Amino acid sequence: MIKKVALIDEIKENGLKVEVDGEEILLIKNGDEIFAISNLCSHQEKEMSGGKIEGDAFICPHHGARFDLKTGKVLSMPAVEDIKIYKVILKDGAVFIESENG
Ligand code: FES
Repeated sequence: MIKKVALIDEIKENGLKVEVDGEEILLIKNGDEIFAISNLCSHQEKEMSGGKIEGDAFICPHHGARFDLKTGKVLSMPAVEDIKIYKVILKDGAVFIESENG
């Protein structure tokens, strides 16, 4: 099912936290693209909001683990597990996320 979670303009430099089906998701703007990643780092389950973007990577603000924004793959320690990413659909200035749970 597809859910509207925000307006594109609401996503500022530090991203925007939203919740879908009880999961915290961080919306991130990188140029013209919007990504939706888990707001919980796979390292110590700390919040990813406040992290930085470098190229196609997102850097956790806590201990600097890097994740690929497009795939969620872990790129550097101290995290060793990938993070969840969500499919984003942009329409009429709004951000929709495809949620797995009906
Ligand atoms: S909590 Fe993200 S790198 Fe440690």
